[in-house]
Amino acid sequence: MSQLPVINREVFGRYAGLSLPRHVAYPMPTWWHAVDATEAAELRAISTKAGRARDLSLYLHLPFCEKMCRFCGCNRTIVRKDGKSGAGKVERYLEALLKELELRAADIGQIDGRRRVVRQIHWGGGTPTYLDCEQIRRLHERTKALFDVAPDAEVSIEVDPRVTTAEQLNLLHEVGFNRISLGVQDFDPEVQEHVGRIQPYEMVKKTVEDARAAGFESINFDLIYGLPKQTVGTVSTMIEKAITLSPDRIAFYHYAAIPDRLANQRGLDHSALPDSDTKLTMMLEATVRFGNAGYEFIGLDHFAKPDELLAEAMKNGQINRTFQGMTTGAELDLFGLGCSAISVLPRAMYLQNEHDVNAYADKVLSGEDPGVRGMAFSADDAVRQAALMQLYCHCEIDPARLRREVGVEFAEYFEKARPQIERLVGDGLVQWTEPGGVRLTFPLGRVLMRNVAAVFDGYLPAEAAWTGMEQTFSASA
Ligand SMILES: C[S@@+](CC[C@H](N)C(=O)[O-])C[C@H]1O[C@@H](n2cnc3c(N)ncnc32)[C@H](O)[C@@H]1O
Ligand code: SF4
Repeated sequence: MSQLPVINREVFGRYAGLSLPRHVAYPMPTWWHAVDATEAAELRAISTKAGRARDLSLYLHLPFCEKMCRFCGCNRTIVRKDGKSGAGKVERYLEALLKELELRAADIGQIDGRRRVVRQIHWGGGTPTYLDCEQIRRLHERTKALFDVAPDAEVSIEVDPRVTTAEQLNLLHEVGFNRISLGVQDFDPEVQEHVGRIQPYEMVKKTVEDARAAGFESINFDLIYGLPKQTVGTVSTMIEKAITLSPDRIAFYHYAAIPDRLANQRGLDHSALPDSDTKLTMMLEATVRFGNAGYEFIGLDHFAKPDELLAEAMKNGQINRTFQGMTTGAELDLFGLGCSAISVLPRAMYLQNEHDVNAYADKVLSGEDPGVRGMAFSADDAVRQAALMQLYCHCEIDPARLRREVGVEFAEYFEKARPQIERLVGDGLVQWTEPGGVRLTFPLGRVLMRNVAAVFDGYLPAEAAWTGMEQTFSASA
């Protein structure tokens, strides 16, 4: 076994395993409310208010998959390719998505008659490569026609190696995609069998080779740890196997288990879940093994090569944390299109579309606004979001940066949280910094980042960092 960083496991044990938010959004979706069409339009319009005029990021949700994975927590719908009604359902959804693109191009795609520059496009799912080549081309060409997409925009897509062909990859690159994310999850045959996703190493290797031959600039792997049947040994092997394929980035996700809400997860043996202490060792193995292979540890659960955009974004302060994990583009207004997609105007608002595929298509095609849940930020939400974003992205809260971003003094603003911060300092999770901010320690504070974050979350009780919450917060991708 590799040399793992020393950690106080007694302290870790007191904080670990609590139900706490991972803050892919602040305020968390739990606190959003239902919105009607008027409010949805008002929320979006914040983006075009005078003085804002940010460039754009577009997220398109493609929810279709051919087969269900038992661990999956994404918003996806299984449509078998050989089924009778499937093709019609997919086409209708695409029709709605194209219509929503047109609506957004008209309402937020321009300011004062000038088209706003799109700096990022991301297709997520479900499985975007469920679409055939003609559908992929149609959707992306239309996006480029409707929006002013920068020539050097980051254009990325999530692919499942089991269903993605070299032909699709060549086409994706030809139309403008330059970054790709592979759902790898785990290489271990026993784990794959248990989670219902058979995907041998050779298959992933072939997709990587096809993507490189097609010309993709950056390849990401999604890996999951904490699944039933995984051990420290299997996870270490998974990490080493991933390294042999030299991905540019890795998202090392903790398995979000919510079987009471997700029927597909009930097929997994949750009595065989690794315990918190074992999961800690898995995470530490990842930091050491990826670190030894030259990757930088980013945020809560990402790794990237030092010359990769994500690592560079961390250095130049442009790193961001969204529903897609750690991303670049902190300076952009993000608009989500498609069912369940979320729009994020940093420090201003969230808006989520109708969750169900058919209900989403019905709404858009009948001229109704698909936005159903969201919220506008209070001044306090904006301050706390800025502080939490710093904590998750940069592992510290820097008073000067907070002053610059939201105009408040850290010590004054978080005066009431001082006893909790002191307790975290006493337990060795954070340290005070010279300018009076706080920094996570490594490894203890880093792996308990969510507990530290709980202290700055205005919607949680003061003791949440130690007690956790009754409700499950493991909302995943
Ligand atoms: C939309 S999928 C990726 C594309 C494609 N559908 C696939 O699976 O290859 C997004 C990622 O979310 C992660 N994910 C899904 N369910 C999860 C869960 N319950 N806990 C943690 N990560 C999860 C997986 O790593 C998955 O690759
Ligand atoms: S993990 Fe990916 S392929 Fe599997 S069901 Fe979820 S979205 Fe579909």
